[in-house]
Amino acid sequence: MNAIKNRRSIRKYKKRRIPENDLKAVIEAARLAPSGANRQFWKMIVVQDEERKKELVPLCNNQKFIEDCSAFIAGIDDPSQKWYRVDIAIAMDHLTLAAYSKGLGTCWIGAFDREKLAEYLGVPKGQVITVCMTLGYPDEAPETRTRKPADELFYWERYGVKQ
Ligand SMILES: Cc1cc2nc3c(=O)[nH]c(=O)nc-3n(C[C@H](O)[C@H](O)[C@H](O)COP(=O)(O)O)c2cc1C
Repeated sequence: MNAIKNRRSIRKYKKRRIPENDLKAVIEAARLAPSGANRQFWKMIVVQDEERKKELVPLCNNQKFIEDCSAFIAGIDDPSQKWYRVDIAIAMDHLTLAAYSKGLGTCWIGAFDREKLAEYLGVPKGQVITVCMTLGYPDEAPETRTRKPADELFYWERYGVKQ
């Protein structure tokens, strides 16, 4: 609950490499995520090279902070699979919470050029990039973003029934 309550999207990072053990722990959290029928069809590409992170910026709607993150992770999906998008989202969310526990900030990246980024990362034809993540040491402490109240989100027993 601590990680869930205190995680924020981080868009300003200190330039620092993530110790290998911490990065391994974070991706391990993604590996352990559940998936439909336990098929685990997704892949992730981890980019840490400084030059390559710079080159990602124009492919991701010029989101400049991407070049300052320690690692950029692209979530690759097989759209022929029934639970594509769902499985990778679960794995990525596991990753955000594990990152928090290691003092790392994350930001989901959904704004990118699907075709150009896939080509840049060498993603085979037929596979797609669903969503990406930045990972790094926070250099900001953003305010909490509000969420809708529970009675707008949850119904009880039947659609529309509020408590
Ligand atoms: C699927 C998805 C795509 C997103 N894409 C971007 C993005 O491209 N750039 C960005 O700065 N934030 C992006 N975000 C972050 C959201 O704006 C952020 O999670 C939301 O405003 C709530 O703020 P919080 O994460 O600090 O609680 C994305 C979030 C999700 C879940």
